[in-house]
Amino acid sequence: MDDTFDLGGKVALVTGASRGIGEAIAKSLGAHGAHVVVSSRKAEACARVVSEIEQTGGRAEAMACHIGEPSQIADAMQRIEASCGRLDILVNNAATNPYFGPVVDADLGAFQKTVDVNIRGFFVASCAAAKLMQKNGGGAIVNVASISGVVPGPNQGIYSITKAAVIGLTKVFAAECATMGVRVNAVLPGITETRFTTALVEDEALLGHYLEHVPMRRVAQPSEIAGAVLYLVSPVATYTTGACLPVDGGYLVK
Ligand SMILES: NC(=O)c1ccc[n+]([C@@H]2O[C@H](COP(=O)([O-])OP(=O)(O)OC[C@H]3O[C@@H](n4cnc5c(N)ncnc54)[C@H](OP(=O)(O)O)[C@@H]3O)[C@@H](O)[C@H]2O)c1
Repeated sequence: MDDTFDLGGKVALVTGASRGIGEAIAKSLGAHGAHVVVSSRKAEACARVVSEIEQTGGRAEAMACHIGEPSQIADAMQRIEASCGRLDILVNNAATNPYFGPVVDADLGAFQKTVDVNIRGFFVASCAAAKLMQKNGGGAIVNVASISGVVPGPNQGIYSITKAAVIGLTKVFAAECATMGVRVNAVLPGITETRFTTALVEDEALLGHYLEHVPMRRVAQPSEIAGAVLYLVSPVATYTTGACLPVDGGYLVK
C-alpha cells in the first residue's frame, strides 16, 4: 500500500454510503486501511458495501442512521465510541433533494425536510464527531457540498440554499475546531453519475446544456469525488482546513 494516504488504525464514519458517492468514499477509505462505518437509513442497504470492502481485505461495519433524526446521530456516535473507542474521520455525505421547481411555490414540508437532513444533519453530526475526535487528539471532517452551493441549480433552489449553508458550516467549524485538532473541509462535486442524477444524465438535452458549461465536457464518476475526500482526510493534508474544493471538471472556473 502507498503509505502517503495510509489510514491504518483510523476509524471513519461515512453517511449515505450504501450507494453512489458515499459508497465510493467508503471503499476508498477502506482500501487505505481505515475501519469504515458504512451508514445510511437502512443497515441492510450498507451490508453489500461492507462485504465488498471486506472482500478486498478491508475492515468495515454497517450502521443505520437517519441523518435527519438528531437522536439517531447521537446513538450512532455512542455506538462507535463503545465499539471502536474512537472516531478519526467523518464524511458528511448523505443528503436529500425532494423538491424540484420554483422556490416561491415550494411546499414548506419539503423545505423543512431538506434543511433537517442537509443542514441540521451535517451540523449535529459535526458537533458530536468533533467532541469524540478531540478525545483522541483530533481528526478530520469532510462535508460533501455541491457546485449548487455556489451557482444555484435550475429548479433546485432549496437544495442549493442548503449546499451554500454547508459551505458556510465548513468554514465556521474549521475556524472553531482547529484548536481541538479537528480539520474541516468540503468537496463541491459537479454532476456525478449516481442514482441522484439519473434523470439529468439520461436527458440528452439537459445534459448537453450542462456540459456546455463544463470545460472537461463530461460528468464525474463517484471515484473521482472519493479521491478528493481521501486527500483531505489523509496525512498529506494536515495543514488544510476550511478549504472548499470544487471537483467539477472546471465548471466553477467560468
Ligand atoms: N450526484 C451528483 O451529481 C452530486 C453533485 C453534487 C453533490 N452531490 C452530493 O453528493 C452526496 C451524495 O449524493 P449521491 O449522488 O451519491 O446520492 P445517492 O446515490 O442518491 O445516494 C444517497 C445516499 O444517501 C443515503 N441517504 C439518503 N437520505 C438519507 C438520510 N436522511 N440519512 C442517511 N442516509 C441517507 C442513501 O441511502 P439510504 O436510501 O439507504 O438511506 C444513499 O446511501 C449528497 O450530499 C449530494 O448532495 C451529488
